[in-house]
Parts: sequence; C-alpha cells; structure tokens
Amino acid sequence: MITTTISSFGISDIISLLIVFSIIYVTRFYYHYFTRHNPLPGPFPLPIVGSAYQQIGYGFNDWLLSLHKKYGDMYEIILAGQRLIVLCKPDLIENMILPSTKTKYSIRQPNTEGFVEYGFAGVGIAFNNDHKSWKYNRQFFTQALSTSNLNYQAIEWTNELWNEMESYWNNLGEDYELNLTKWMHRFTNEMIFRISTGVKNDAITCYYNMLISSNNNKNLLNEKENEKLKNSENFVESLETYMEGLIYFYTFNKFIRNNFPFIRGKVKKLLKNKDYLFDRLYNIVKERRIEIENTPLDQPLRHDMLTSYITANTPRDINVVKQADADLLRPMTDKEIFGNILDAVLGGTDTAANFICFIIYSLEHYPEVKQRLRQEFDRVLENDLTRPITYKDLDKLE
Ligand SMILES: *[C@@H]1O[C@H](CO)[C@@H](O)[C@H](O)[C@H]1NC(C)=O
Repeated sequence: MITTTISSFGISDIISLLIVFSIIYVTRFYYHYFTRHNPLPGPFPLPIVGSAYQQIGYGFNDWLLSLHKKYGDMYEIILAGQRLIVLCKPDLIENMILPSTKTKYSIRQPNTEGFVEYGFAGVGIAFNNDHKSWKYNRQFFTQALSTSNLNYQAIEWTNELWNEMESYWNNLGEDYELNLTKWMHRFTNEMIFRISTGVKNDAITCYYNMLISSNNNKNLLNEKENEKLKNSENFVESLETYMEGLIYFYTFNKFIRNNFPFIRGKVKKLLKNKDYLFDRLYNIVKERRIEIENTPLDQPLRHDMLTSYITANTPRDINVVKQADADLLRPMTDKEIFGNILDAVLGGTDTAANFICFIIYSLEHYPEVKQRLRQEFDRVLENDLTRPITYKDLDKLE
C-alpha cells in the first residue's frame, strides 16, 4: 500500500506541491506586509530576501543613504525577515537612546538566529538582551574601564604606539602616500586590543612590514620574526574579517545564507574565521588566568581589562569597588570575559578609527578651527609637541 503511494507520487506531484507551498508562502508574506502596524514608506520587499535584493551593487551604507533621499527621515526595510525602521535624524535617535529605565526601547537589537550563529548574541553588553546577564557584564565592564590605573596605562600605551607608528611613517619617506583609513583602523585595533587584554597584537608592525615587503619585493626579517608576524597578521585579519562579516548575518536569513550561491560560500568562510578568532580569544583568557595564578601575591598585576575581569571577586581583585548586589558577587566565567572582550574590540575599532579620520578631514576643511586647536595644544603642551601627552594634559584640553 505504502510502496504504491510512494511510487505513484511522481515528479509532477512534487512540482505541484512546491508551487502550492510557494503560493502560500508568498501570500502569507504579503498579507503580513500589507497589514503591518504603522506602515512607513520604504522599498517594496520580496519574499525570502526582503529588501536585501536592492542592496546589490551598493555598499550597505550608500544604499541606506539613497533610501534616505527617496523616503525621508524615517523609513522601513526588511532584512533577514525582520522589519527594521531606519532613523536619519538626530532627534529621532536621541529619543531612543535615553539612558533611562523607563525607556520603551530597552532592547536595542533583537537577537536574531543570525547573530546567535555568528556568536555575539547573548554575551557581552551591546547585543545582550538577557537583563540579568547584561547587568552583570555591564558592572564589570564599567568597573574595568573606570579604574584610574587602567586610564594611566592606556595613555602610556597610546603614546608608545603612536610613536611606533610615526617612526614607520618616517621610514616610508616623503613620497609614500599614506592611507589614513587603513592606518587608523590598525591603530585602533591594536590599541583597543591592548587595553582589553594587555596583549600587543602588532597590528601596526604587521601592516608596515606588508607595505615594505610589497614595495621592495624582499623580506627584511628572519624566519622567526616572520613566523611571529604572520601569526599576528592572521589574528588581526580575522578580527577585521569578523567585523566585515557581521553584515551577512544581519542582512540575510538562514535560508539565504545556507543556499544562495556566493553567499553560501562566503558565510562558510566567515564561520570558519569566527571559530579561529574565538579560539584565540578564549586562549588569551586561559593563558592570562594561568599567568595570574603563577604571579606571587606580593607582586602587582598589570592593569588591563582582562586582568580586572579575571580577578573581580577573587582574592586577587585589582578593583577597589566592592559589590553590594548579591548577584554581582561571583567571579566571571571565561565565556562572560570573552563576551566583554569581543564587545570592546567590536565597539572600539571602526568607531574610533572613523572618528579620528573624520576629525582630520574636518580640520582640513576648517583651517580656522585647526588653528585654534593648534593654539590650544601649544598652550597645554607648552610649545613642545613631541613630548608624551599625560593624563593631566588631557584634563586641561578643552
Ligand atoms: C584606503 O583604505 C581603505 C580601507 O581599506 C580603502 O577603502 C581605500 O580605497 C583606500 N584608499 C586608497 C586611496 O587607496
């Protein structure tokens, strides 16, 4: 009986079924689309891909800008099956980011399956919608950031790294056309990584050596140095790749990610890269734990965020603040520490790099502002622009 059913169930039946399912799917999709609450203007979506098809041929940001021109300050798009409202005016945005417990928008970004698959939903702070875990992580994140020792350390490291970078610029000579975006991304990448883990990842040195060897077609380093830099470069690139990949998990739903040509291959590579990156981050946490365990009690510990996380609520605690809230009294797990480091790195690279580039761009367009800035530096640094900037200087700079 069963066998006859199956054998009589031919290709044409499968096609009919597929057609029926497609019609149901498409009807359902547009039914929901046309009956949505508070409809806003925006591009017409297609089933499965939503608005993502329109993005083809644009950069993501350029695409959003072009939609802004067409639809105004508030419009909607559908990405990865989610209806998103795009706000293009500061006062609309301000209303959403009020730091109040009464805000209607406490969840800034719903956790989609894409974010879960890419590994950053539910950890850290920025994409953590579990209130209890968010509160716990935020406590230690803020605490690690606000210790004055970390701030002194960060300023020392910034001076050091900037000098290193300048010496490379000098070596490259007058004729070298400097790509500021590239350098600043490397700079912030190395800086935020050092602050959050205490580890120097050599992002700047790697970039410099890449430029030198591609210019001269030869390699000035010995094998061991090469090996070390290669290792660093892979790591820095994996961070960059991870960040660039976010958009795939934001824009496309699981079906597209797993089935569409090109996208499928790219997503596979991104997930492999994610595993490599996460592995290395977890290793950094583990190695630092061992280092701390092996440091005699009378020896002070380095001040970086990782050390602050690991020692929080342990006998080696480098934080002065003691918790009152019972939920905040336990030490952090490796996963929680990892999440906070990932957040710092994701939040502190592109943002800071673009910020520096925008400042420089704007200063070049407003010479009178540049002049005033210059005067302020001269006053605070007492006409010595080569000496390291101190914590005190920063306080004085308006
Ligand atoms: C500088 O680097 C950025 C980022 O990698 C790249 O998009 C841009 O095209 C580069 N600019 C030049 C002039 O090479």
